[in-house]
Amino acid sequence: MHRIVIVAIDGPAGAGKSTTARRVATALGFLYLDTGAMYRAVALSFLRSGTPFDDAGAAPVLSSLRLSVRTADDGQHVFLGEEDVTGSLRSPEVSEAASRVSALASVRAFLVEEQRRIAAAQTMRGSGVVMEGRDIGTVVFPGAELKIFLTADPSERARRRAAEYAERGESSDTDAIASEMRERDRRDSDRAVAPLRPADDAVLLDTTSLSFEEQVEHIVDLARRRAS
Ligand code: DC
Repeated sequence: MHRIVIVAIDGPAGAGKSTTARRVATALGFLYLDTGAMYRAVALSFLRSGTPFDDAGAAPVLSSLRLSVRTADDGQHVFLGEEDVTGSLRSPEVSEAASRVSALASVRAFLVEEQRRIAAAQTMRGSGVVMEGRDIGTVVFPGAELKIFLTADPSERARRRAAEYAERGESSDTDAIASEMRERDRRDSDRAVAPLRPADDAVLLDTTSLSFEEQVEHIVDLARRRAS
């Protein structure tokens, strides 16, 4: 019997990573870690302090950053100091800033270390982690026991993101979302440090025509088969 410790779920925005990863974690009894929210919290710190998006600007932001991630019944919460900033992380302004700060080597090094630390603490407790992001299978945990790369057609990804905005009562324009996503995908894939790409041993899962339940079932199934 092999033990699965890390399930890495990577892929572009809107491929269904967050909802899928959260449900997979519940099914396996693992911790769920949304690493994008950590990049977003760092981006919020840059925005609040008016810091330019470069490594020189990042040094003072990172040295004074008090970032923590806590899990509550309603999911993951991200804190800066004692302030729960979870509700401030999804605006278009923070999305854009997160895409910029995530291209900085110093920010990535800082967060990768933090992500490994969180996973180590969890595995010491005898449990596993479903970690979701862009570079989990390639950089953070290249030895993860199961790596999934989720994709979906760009138009479907934009439609899903628009539906998320609608669910939060926010209006949006699907064409504008599609063009922002294209730009972010390009930046995430073209950056020099940890570009978005599937690990060589990742299982590619195109979710365009899969239901949410089918995606979850498929990944849970793979995890259970690998563990047996
Ligand atoms: O998954 P998300 O949209 O919340 O991610 C926000 C930004 O952070 C996005 O531009 C990609 C980047 N990111 C990253 O570079 N590496 C990760 N592991 C997670 C997110």
